[in-house]
Amino acid sequence: MNVLVTGGAGYIGSHTCLELLESGCGVIVIDNLCNSNPKSLQRVQELTGKTLKFYQGDVRDGALLKTIFQENPIDCVIHFAGLKCVPESVAKPWAYYDNNLNTTLVLTKAMQEAGVKRIIFSSSATVYAADNTMPLKETSRTGDCTNPYGWTKYMTEQILSGIAHADEKWSVALLRYFNPIGAHESGRIGEDPRGIPNNLMPYITQVAVGRRDHLSVYGNDYNTPDGTGVRDYLHVVDLAKGHVAAVKYVLAHTGCEAFNLGTGVGYSVLDMVNTFVQVNGVPVPYEIGPRRPGDVAVCYAAPDKSAQVLGWKAERTLADMCRDSWNWQSKNSTGYDD
Ligand code: NAD
Ligand code: WQD
Repeated sequence: MNVLVTGGAGYIGSHTCLELLESGCGVIVIDNLCNSNPKSLQRVQELTGKTLKFYQGDVRDGALLKTIFQENPIDCVIHFAGLKCVPESVAKPWAYYDNNLNTTLVLTKAMQEAGVKRIIFSSSATVYAADNTMPLKETSRTGDCTNPYGWTKYMTEQILSGIAHADEKWSVALLRYFNPIGAHESGRIGEDPRGIPNNLMPYITQVAVGRRDHLSVYGNDYNTPDGTGVRDYLHVVDLAKGHVAAVKYVLAHTGCEAFNLGTGVGYSVLDMVNTFVQVNGVPVPYEIGPRRPGDVAVCYAAPDKSAQVLGWKAERTLADMCRDSWNWQSKNSTGYDD
């Protein structure tokens, strides 16, 4: 079985390529490397002892997609390619709507023409409206997004749902990720953000490795046990395995279904810092700062549907996530540039 992975050189994509190869799938990647390094794919091949096929190019390039579908018998597509930085999306909405929506439109048109009608999409917990009660179920209210990035995920879900409605042969899995962190246990692949990290764990690891002075904790006056924000962090290897489960699902079903990929457990910012320090024995200086605009106090998943329908459950602990994040960062202090 062959899977086309868009954005396969990126953080989640590279870990998923590894799990797909390990599970016996053929893997074809298209990535324009706008936010990744091809070393990730070299290392995936070294770790697995298997090869994958790589096309460097843009998913909005319909001619290239046509060639890829002609040259490869593809059974299913996993669509990771997209821009993902929330504050950048507020500053550059054009770039986000163009990239994140047009990749999906051009890709699904090429798929329709090639007769490939199974797609797994990287959605996000950000599609859920802020006024839901926790835990978030797939039936919780979506929309009212607070930034263009979130809207692109919401709109892409609508586009894919519409396609599955228009042609009943399509099978669409919308995977709503919560907060992926960690790295492959080898420390050979991991998250390598460009510039100053926006997300908590890469910031923590860059402070721990000495690239940043201290962590700013964005607010300690939320209505949470220690006052800091609570999120559902999940190990990227568990998340990657969730995609292998979703491949099996789209092969066996038609229609459009959303699935939460999270652990169902929330941890606070201070839980994260304290566990990281305890597990790895490295200091992470922090200062309490003001709240970050747009942040919610608490966000965690109800993962029951994924367990029941996909047969997938996150298995790795917070200690595993902190250990593996640090293993990657300490072995690659400047990411793939080392
Ligand atoms: P990433 O930036 O590491 O990976 C995205 C990859 O897509 C990169 O390799 C980039 O070069 C590529 N890409 C972007 N636009 C492209 C285009 N037009 N053509 C070809 N390649 C293109 O990000 P990630 O963390 O691995 O996220 C993967 C997906 O999951 C994204 O769609 C993201 O929005 C979504 N997601 C991520 C998170 C998270 O916290 N990391 C959470 C929820 C959803
Ligand atoms: C986690 C917690 C912060 C950085 C974002 C996107 C979401 C999804 C995942 C793609 C919060 C706190 C953070 C820092 C801090 N991405 N924090 N100091 O905001 O839950 O979700 O990434 O889809 O769409 O919005 O993740 O890692 O940025 O923040 O105190 O330097 O850490 O306030 O409570 P978030 P995050």
